[in-house]
Amino acid sequence: MVKRGTPVAPSSIMRHLSVPSRETQSILCQLKAAAALPEGARVRADPTDETRRLIPVIDSATVDLLTHYPVIHVDSPPPSPRSYRDHLNTILSQEIIESVDWPTRHEFVGDLILIKLDSSQREYGDAIGQALLNQHKRTRAVFEDKGVTGDFRVRDLNLLAVREGFSPTTRTKIVESGQELWTDPSSVYYSSRLSHEREGTLECAKRIREHLGRPISVCDPYAGVGPSLLPLVKESGLLGESFAGDLNPKAVEFLHENIGTDKFTIECVDARTLQSTDSLREKFDLLLVNIPHDAIEHTPDLLPLLRDGGVVRGWAIIEDEDFEAATNSLTKSLGKDVEIEVRRSYSATANLCRFESQINR
Ligand SMILES: C[S@@+](CC[C@H](N)C(=O)[O-])C[C@H]1O[C@@H](n2cnc3c(N)ncnc32)[C@H](O)[C@@H]1O
Repeated sequence: MVKRGTPVAPSSIMRHLSVPSRETQSILCQLKAAAALPEGARVRADPTDETRRLIPVIDSATVDLLTHYPVIHVDSPPPSPRSYRDHLNTILSQEIIESVDWPTRHEFVGDLILIKLDSSQREYGDAIGQALLNQHKRTRAVFEDKGVTGDFRVRDLNLLAVREGFSPTTRTKIVESGQELWTDPSSVYYSSRLSHEREGTLECAKRIREHLGRPISVCDPYAGVGPSLLPLVKESGLLGESFAGDLNPKAVEFLHENIGTDKFTIECVDARTLQSTDSLREKFDLLLVNIPHDAIEHTPDLLPLLRDGGVVRGWAIIEDEDFEAATNSLTKSLGKDVEIEVRRSYSATANLCRFESQINR
């Protein structure tokens, strides 16, 4: 690995027009139309006159404006790096930089970055990690994401870089809809991609409370670290006695930490067995079935938990060719017609879908 010089072009003296502040926008437009603005041009305050702004102009420009406004020569700061790739030249040789197809996407989870690498990129994983830390000042550590494993859908993570003096732990705090949750992608499932669905769950819960005129009991037996429940907990007067569970013991630890209130019974249990607990049968006003790969198969085992008039809200990943069969199967389980709504694409041949239905016995 060959270490090179500065990450971006050094600063240089450049011509600037000193213009009245209120004319800045219109002059910028004129310079842009005349192709007289340098790439990444930045307007700055004129240090000699607080009523004026400085606009950089490229050396070859011959626009009339240059004769109408004072032209001054000042140091032009180099453009800011726009991506982690702009930092690689402080770490790797130009030859290496040009020989690799660098990853263009990464995911933020709290103060972590997770990035997928192919075999040619993996060789430079440490450099990618360091460059990401250089670019994203609030990131503590960068991990290679080697994919999701097992029924608990946790990530296989490999540390690439950690900020000096900080912990390399995968435990991190995320903020969703203004609320804080602890998670750990290496031991529990969490995805910010479903946050919009969770906003919908809050709206659905509020509708049920309005209809019933009392706090409602909610059952989230695949709760993960509790992202669907936290907004409900925070909504004053919404929840009565409720249940949160997960088969992953680590997720249950996070549930206690994230949503542990006296409103909730929290258990590490297989959701399909809950129906055999008398105190949970026909108890709930709202049931969440968030196990998208198995929702169609699991739902019949969960419906006994709903009271008469209760609402089931579930998510399922459905292959295009299985859509009709899934609708028929769900209709049979629910005992009535159900509309399965496509929410987003999951793969080239499958979608993440949502169903919602009121159960009347
Ligand atoms: C897709 S995740 C959903 C987690 C959470 N509701 C969310 O939105 O982030 C499914 C969760 O179900 C849990 N799980 C898998 N099989 C289960 C089962 N049979 N009973 C209870 N939980 C299960 C997994 O550990 C995982 O946390």
